[in-house]
Parts: sequence; C-alpha cells; structure tokens
Amino acid sequence: MSSALLLAAWAWLVVLAALACHHERAAAATLSTSSRWIVDERARRVKLACVNWPSHLEPMLAEGLGKRPLGAIAGDVAAMGFNCVRLTWPTFLVTDASRASLTVAQSLQRLNLTESLAGVQANNPGILDLKLIDAFKAVVSSLGDSDVMVILDNHVSKPGWCCGRNDGNGFFGDAYFDPGVWVDGLTKMAAMFAGVPNVVGMSLRNELRGPRQNTNDWYRYMQRGAEAVHAANPRVLVILSGLSFDNDLAFLSWRQVRLSFARKVAFEVHWYSFSNPHQWTGGNANRVCARIAASVARRSLYLLNRGWPVFLSEFGVDNRGGNVGDNRYWGCVAAVAAGLDLDWALWTLQGSYYLRDGVPGHDEAYGVLDRDWRKARNETALRRIHALQRPFRGPGLAEAAPYTVLFHPATGLCVVQRSLMRPLELGPCNETAAWAYTPEHRLVLRDSSLLTLCLRAEGAGRPARLGLGRVGCAGSLARWLLVSDSKLHVAVHASSSRSDMRCLDVGADGRTVVTNRCRCLSGGNSCDPESQWFKLVSSTRSPVTNNILAQLLLVELKNWKSWLFNLF
Ligand SMILES: *[C@@H]1O[C@H](CO)[C@@H](O)[C@H](O)[C@H]1NC(C)=O
Ligand SMILES: *[C@@H]1O[C@H](CO)[C@@H](O)[C@H](O)[C@H]1NC(C)=O
Repeated sequence: MSSALLLAAWAWLVVLAALACHHERAAAATLSTSSRWIVDERARRVKLACVNWPSHLEPMLAEGLGKRPLGAIAGDVAAMGFNCVRLTWPTFLVTDASRASLTVAQSLQRLNLTESLAGVQANNPGILDLKLIDAFKAVVSSLGDSDVMVILDNHVSKPGWCCGRNDGNGFFGDAYFDPGVWVDGLTKMAAMFAGVPNVVGMSLRNELRGPRQNTNDWYRYMQRGAEAVHAANPRVLVILSGLSFDNDLAFLSWRQVRLSFARKVAFEVHWYSFSNPHQWTGGNANRVCARIAASVARRSLYLLNRGWPVFLSEFGVDNRGGNVGDNRYWGCVAAVAAGLDLDWALWTLQGSYYLRDGVPGHDEAYGVLDRDWRKARNETALRRIHALQRPFRGPGLAEAAPYTVLFHPATGLCVVQRSLMRPLELGPCNETAAWAYTPEHRLVLRDSSLLTLCLRAEGAGRPARLGLGRVGCAGSLARWLLVSDSKLHVAVHASSSRSDMRCLDVGADGRTVVTNRCRCLSGGNSCDPESQWFKLVSSTRSPVTNNILAQLLLVELKNWKSWLFNLF
C-alpha cells in the first residue's frame, strides 16, 4: 500500500469522525413530507423520536407538575434522547367555557386533589394561578426551551382516561363527540400555536372507535378537520389516525384522502401487545411475531410503500419486566421499528397521574419515569429505546454507503467489533460494525476491503468470529440464513442435517455474540426466542468501526516498513 493511499485513508477517517460529531437542533424546524419521510426545510429527514405526555385527564394539566419543576421534566425528556413530545389535550379544554375559565389551582381543588395541589405549589408555583390553557402553553414553551418538538394530540373530548368503546368519546356523533365542536377545538388550538416554532404537528384525534365508527364518516370529518387545522396553521404536519383504536388504516388502500394541500400529511398507528389479546403468550413467539407484524403491515405500515409517513404514535411495555406478552412483543415491534426506521412516540413519559380511574397518584407501569418523576423507572428499558432514537437512514442523512446493522431488539444493542483481538459483542448501535449481507448470504465486514472478513460460526456456545479471506468466508458455517417465521433468527447449518442449525445468540456474560442451537423456531408458547432475535437493518449512518480499518492499516504499515527495511 502506498503512503499516499494511507494518508487518503486517514483523511477519510477524520472526515467520518467529524460527521459523527455533527448534531442538529431540530426543535424549530418546519416539517413537511417527502414520500414516506418527514423532512425539514432543507429536505433533510427529521426522525420523530417522541414520548407521550398526557394532559387530557380530568385535571387538564400535563401530568407530573406536582412532582418536579416543569423545566426539569422538559430537560429530562431531552436528556433521555427524545426530540419530541406527543402532548395530549381534551377538546373541552378550549371549547367549554366553564372548564376553560379554570385556573390550575381551581381544577385540582375541584377534584379534591389536595396532595397534587400542594405538590404544584412547591414545584411549580408560577403556574398555580394560570388558566389551564396558559399552563398548557407554558409546558409547550418549556419543551421548546429544551429543543423538544411538540405534536399536539387531540386525545378525547371530555377530559378523562382514554379509551373505552362506549365512553362517549370514541367516534363522530358519540355523546361527547360533536364534529362541529371538535373542528372548532382543532381550529382554536391550531391558531393558538401557529406562531410557536416547536409545535410541528397536530394529530386530529386519538383512537377512533366504537359502534358508530365507519369509513364514510371517517373521510367526511377527518378531511374537514385536516382542512381546518391547515387553514389555521399551514406550518404544522397534520396527522390522521385510523379506526379501531388506531389499528386500522386498511381502507386507505382503495380510497385516498382528498385534501386541498399536499406534503403536510402523515398517518399514525398504535401497536401494543394488548392490541392482540392473549396472542403473545398463547403461541410460538416467532409465528406470533410474523403473523402480527404482517397484519400491522396490511392495516397501516403498507402506507409507507405508497409514499406516506406512518407515525407509530403509541407503543410500549410494562417497564417492570414481568409481563411475558409485553416482553416478546417488544422484540418484535422494536425489530419492525428499526427495520423500517419508523417515526414513533413511546407510551409513555409519566410515572404517575394526578388522578386516573378515580385513583389519586395512580402509578404508570409503562412510564419511562418512576412514580416520583425523579429518575428512570428502568434504565435497561430506557437504554433499549436509544437505538431507535437516531435515524438509520433517510433523505439528506447519508454519511456512508448503505450497510447492514445486526440489531438485537431485546437489548437495543448492535453487534460491534471493537478490535480484531476481541470477540464480537453487543454494544451501542452508534458503534455498530458495518456489514454487507451478500447475495451468497455471507455477512462481510464492510470495511475489510484489504482483506475479506466474514462472520463465521464456531462450536455451539462459542463466540462467533471473523473468518479471514477465501477460506474463512467459505462453507456453510459462514452462510447465514433467516430461518424462522419472524425472520429474526440468523442461522447457519452446522452439518448436512437440515435441523442442525446454529443461531446467533448472546452468551452467558450478556454481551459476547455466540452461536447456539436455534431455539423456538417452532413449538409452543413456553419457549422464549428473544435472545436469538437479530434484525438486519439497513443504515447509512457513519459507522464507527474504522478502528478495524486502522488496525489493518497499521499491520500493513508494519509490513511495508519491514519490506522497505529488507530492501535496503
Ligand atoms: C370533594 O370533597 C367534598 C367534601 O369532602 C365532597 O363533597 C365532594 O364530593 C368531593 N369531590 C370530588 C370530586 O370527589
Ligand atoms: C427492567 O426492564 C428489563 C427489560 O424488560 C427487565 O428485564 C427487568 O426485569 C426490569 N427491571 C426492573 C427492576 O424492573
């Protein structure tokens, strides 16, 4: 290798390192859409990595203000890596005079929430005598100060916990859901926040549902609502939700929405383990994942291929770790979210409520924060989210030619190669190795252009390693197939017997990447495949694996030196 080439390679490393340190402040962006992507004014992708923050329950006040100062909560949202909040509001907050006239203190007093009242007095004295809508504006503004974008989500009409099939808030024409009042509420909110730069989107209505739901009224009213929002605030993205608790947008495959404006519309979908009751615990997890992911694709994610953004605006798990259905679901939904690089909003920020279902101080097991809103409820669960926060790809973001990431959804980690001397292990996805998954089913380390390095299985329970060159990349032990229904098992045939397959897995130390006999490809509900689930994700993020290249270059340099030395 010539020294000029060596220099060029080093210069390339420096450029990549500089790119990796380049951060964007996205909070003031005006968003629009470019096919399935949400983009800023410069047509660069902005990935929504949001967390839900409710303000639609009876007190009509963003939760948690009795626990911590507003600025501290907003700061935590940003520090946890979320760039956006889906902030919920009830229609009556702005359309019902008797509610709209209440101050924060009056709203809490009216519900006998004396403890919360004292908490707000202690933590946020400045908002106590504000009108509810002004407190809502203070929350938006505080999020703006922390560079967090806001999507205003019309969650219910009548304030309260959502959502029941027959709670009067489910569909146009229900007891509390007068379409005219709803359009009026949307218009008021859109106009009120038209000049607020960090309000980047408005979702028209959460989880339409119930006996009245039908597609004709969906088109009629959602189009009207979308036009009203756009007229009052042409800057925001308008986000349309589906039927059946926001699980169903299948009807759009045969009838489009008709709107007077373009490039400002996205759709949203919700996906929980309980969207498919008993299934996650009742069957083989690979089959269940394959079946449910296909059904979500048919009902909503297909829209990505039709050129619409689809925002996964509610998903999440019980963060206590003991819910088997939630745990298996998580591996599946995280694999889909990473694979499609979806925009999303996690359910949820709040560790507790002022009042939910009649219970003051109600705990929220799905909350990112603990009951006191002081620290993460579960650091492990929070860390898994980080992998999904940065975009893998999208318009204007390419820092590298497309490569494949081996993503481990159960941990939110990726397969990294820190040095040629150490085994492959799980590590932060920001440090991922860049693989090429070839038509011959080899997983080739992409930066190994000097020498070809391939992922290779060793004996059961032993670390997977890098095979070198033609020999190391040959044979069935370096030929990786996606073998289960979920396509999340990455396996080689260990012998000519069809059933003798070894799958990528995580070793007993919780981080070394090993291969083990494939588990749970079939069979019943008792088998948990999660540790063997890996998703091949396409990325153009700048990979930080160049230390491998550097090591190889050093080896080359030494060879070159000794060659020179021998010459003279
Ligand atoms: C609040 O407390 C008062 C006095 O104890 C009671 O009459 C009222 O019904 C309570 N209101 C609510 C909403 O619980
Ligand atoms: C945190 O979440 C992880 C992942 O679901 C789980 O395994 C663990 O038990 C949880 N820990 C606690 C203390 O809740």
